[in-house]
Amino acid sequence: MTTTKTQTLLLLPGDGIGPEVTEEARRVAAHLAPDLRIEEAFFGGVSYDNFGVPLTDEVMARARKADAILMGAVGGPKWDNVPRDKRPEAALLSMRKNLDVYANLRPAFCFPALAGASALKTELVEGLDILIVRELTSGVYFGQPKTIETLPNGERRGIDTQVYTTSEIRRVAARAFELARGRTRTSRFAGVLSCEKSNVMDSGLLWRQEVTKLHQERYSDVKLDHMLADAAAMHLVKAPKDINVLLADNLFGDILSDEASMLTGSIGMLPSASLGDPGVPGLYEPVHGSAPDIAGKGVANPIAAILSLEMVMRWSLGRADVADNIFAAVGKALDGGARTADIGGSMSTRQMADAILNHL
Ligand code: IPM
Ligand code: MG
Repeated sequence: MTTTKTQTLLLLPGDGIGPEVTEEARRVAAHLAPDLRIEEAFFGGVSYDNFGVPLTDEVMARARKADAILMGAVGGPKWDNVPRDKRPEAALLSMRKNLDVYANLRPAFCFPALAGASALKTELVEGLDILIVRELTSGVYFGQPKTIETLPNGERRGIDTQVYTTSEIRRVAARAFELARGRTRTSRFAGVLSCEKSNVMDSGLLWRQEVTKLHQERYSDVKLDHMLADAAAMHLVKAPKDINVLLADNLFGDILSDEASMLTGSIGMLPSASLGDPGVPGLYEPVHGSAPDIAGKGVANPIAAILSLEMVMRWSLGRADVADNIFAAVGKALDGGARTADIGGSMSTRQMADAILNHL
């Protein structure tokens, strides 16, 4: 007799367009995986409004018990004057840190139908398929000291600390090498392209040394290239198709992934997965923010949220067939002309999701 444990997906719709786009991902999940238990909780600004904190202990405990967590978006001008540790973004950072989901996978994939919608010339992005692996739980986001202090002369000084240890570098680099093994390419940087500023930063020098060492020890079958992060920013818009897996620290990965999103047509298209060691629930989120300017209007693009669900199925729930199905349906909906405003159309959030559901 076989018993299958019920899998749980915790939805954290959050703020702004978060609830609208997560609702569409929920419909897709309910359609394709009716056995999945789907829960929902407050997170971000909406949690602050209700409970005085952006992430309650109770929600954190539920997140640890889930098989995967799908977040919508957090933040908005409403909480601009809230102290930093209570801001919606703090919920996101604590969730990442508490779960220790150190490897943030951000695919930048250009669907054929959208090659013309990119900020770059069509031929530069046609067939583009980059995977950014961003370190997510260390670096300048978390390093101490981190403070604004007042000096004896009355001047104020803001301090952030960029810090990385060997193990922090090695574990995320190992993930990048493993992912590159499953993505064979013949392009110029066919394996892992590791980015840092080793020319000016000691943490960047350590990064380069440790990635090189790990590569020699365990991953010499994968091609490894290094590039300074500023040069990588340039290369991303000059010849993006040269790049396969781009590895970067928390801050450079944040910036380079926003840049890469524009190659694909719209930031409304990009999903992400944040993974830790085996057994840790994965945290999934669209790369786009809460987009307060269009929140509540029902016009946001739900594709990033739906593709984040695709990643949930693939990386946390062991349902690659369902994931393939979702990915293909998004492609077909786009081929059929389905477009929200961000990619040059006029469909509502619901209409776009329906166009995808029609192909499932
Ligand atoms: C992202 C976002 C976050 C980050 C913000 C909202 C804290 O920009 O996920 O890329 O900087 O990590
Ligand atoms: Mg960002």
